[in-house]
Amino acid sequence: MLVDTTGPLERLALAVRARRYISAWSASAQALTLLVALDERGWTRLLAEPRDLDALADFSGLPLNRVRDLVAVLDAHGIAEWHDGKVRLSPPFEALSADDAWVGLRDVLDQSIAMSQLVRSAAVMREEVSLTEAEALTIACVAGGRTTRVTVATYEKILAELPELREKARAGRYLDVGCGIAGATLTMATMFPEMRAVAVEIVPAIAGEATCRAMALGVWKCDAWTRETSTR
Ligand SMILES: C[S@@+](CC[C@H](N)C(=O)[O-])C[C@H]1O[C@@H](n2cnc3c(N)ncnc32)[C@H](O)[C@@H]1O
Repeated sequence: MLVDTTGPLERLALAVRARRYISAWSASAQALTLLVALDERGWTRLLAEPRDLDALADFSGLPLNRVRDLVAVLDAHGIAEWHDGKVRLSPPFEALSADDAWVGLRDVLDQSIAMSQLVRSAAVMREEVSLTEAEALTIACVAGGRTTRVTVATYEKILAELPELREKARAGRYLDVGCGIAGATLTMATMFPEMRAVAVEIVPAIAGEATCRAMALGVWKCDAWTRETSTR
């Protein structure tokens, strides 16, 4: 049966429905904006440990009432929670913000900002939308992740399911074409000291980041080409 949507009250109901959608999106967008701003100002690091509101007000220089409101928003969105009169990150956000996270909170937030800008470009630009090098690097950081104890434990599990890859990585020469920031190669290189690998990446900023990470992890040997990262 067709519903008549032409009467003024039906049109009001339709518009209210659209407003509800926008309200929900807007609430999420506000939470994201708040998280980005607070992360930039060091709140997420501070809230890895329980803090009272006074400590947060001292740290931020914001009035206590404002701090209370901000914490209420964090609590409402599952970012932080109260325990015994103190507030701290909720377990999921603590895990995402911690140094051992495979992909860190900052990288995830940067990707989210970049994606919003790309969506806007897609809507307004007549020319083809292409990534800037900085945007490509931002996305590559999330795709590849960091080499941490969490990452290594995850790769242990993956490689237990793929014993042939484990053996090839250890004994053969490993070629990673289109390596991004070389998350997989670098993680395996730290797991298998005998591994020999070459990782190739076409975007200079991403290749540079992969090289820096290989050096920081102590698995980088030499770099004859700017686009190639060699491990040991
Ligand atoms: C899906 S991402 C890489 C994911 C990566 N292997 C990982 O495990 O995280 C693909 C990468 O390939 C790179 N790429 C695309 N074409 C390439 C080419 N012709 N030569 C080298 N790298 C290339 C892109 O810049 C991008 O960083």
